[in-house]
Amino acid sequence: MRTKIVAGNWKMNKTPAEAKALIAAIRAELDGLDCPVEVVVCPPFVALAVAAEALKGSRIGLGAQTMHAAASGAFTGEVSAAMLVETGVKYVILGHSERRTLFGETDAAVNAKTQAALAAGLTPIICVGETLQEREANRTADVVTSQLKGSLAGLGAALERCVIAYEPVWAIGTGRTATPGQAQEVHALIRRVLAELAGGKVANGVRIQYGGSMKPDNAAELMAQPDIDGGLIGGAALKADSFAAIVKAGC
Ligand code: PGA
Repeated sequence: MRTKIVAGNWKMNKTPAEAKALIAAIRAELDGLDCPVEVVVCPPFVALAVAAEALKGSRIGLGAQTMHAAASGAFTGEVSAAMLVETGVKYVILGHSERRTLFGETDAAVNAKTQAALAAGLTPIICVGETLQEREANRTADVVTSQLKGSLAGLGAALERCVIAYEPVWAIGTGRTATPGQAQEVHALIRRVLAELAGGKVANGVRIQYGGSMKPDNAAELMAQPDIDGGLIGGAALKADSFAAIVKAGC
């Protein structure tokens, strides 16, 4: 059985002081909850240290939203895996569609970052997903397959330490959620591609999150699908009550 994983992608929201307050509110909802779901929050870089402190003694994990593949060097504005680890970070979102479209991140870059994250002991959450135009042109399977093959190339059995997030771009921040059936279809395809890359045993153990307008009122039905192992939550992760309700929907 795969342990479900629900992660909050805060994007460029919450100052350090606001992050501290949101974590306190999330802990008030979730501390002591008897639920096997793995919970992660991913604040902006500058809030990570404060967040690590605020999460002490809780079972909620800390994640970052991106990182650079290199260990150090002349990469103005960037942050390395080792810097994240020293700050208390355990997870890192890689290849989010906003990184891919707004910051030109390619599959090759996501692959390099994934290798660096794994080498540093971080759990990468690797995002894939098609645009509306690609879905309407019946290209979803091709696009997702090629993103997976490019982003996960050469990982072999280390793939079992990765989390995949299927985030249809047309569902992100739009209020338009994929139906459980639409999402399950792509999740099953993702698992078949993972099996091709690393064998059935590894593929069966990899958690595949759904992301894109996941909310308290659609989370349970989505996470009840056989290949949906949690969620990557944007907007609904910015409020403690909705984030906690989504976690509870996966319990
Ligand atoms: P959303 O964002 O939940 O606001 O749609 C999800 C994401 O981009 O990870």
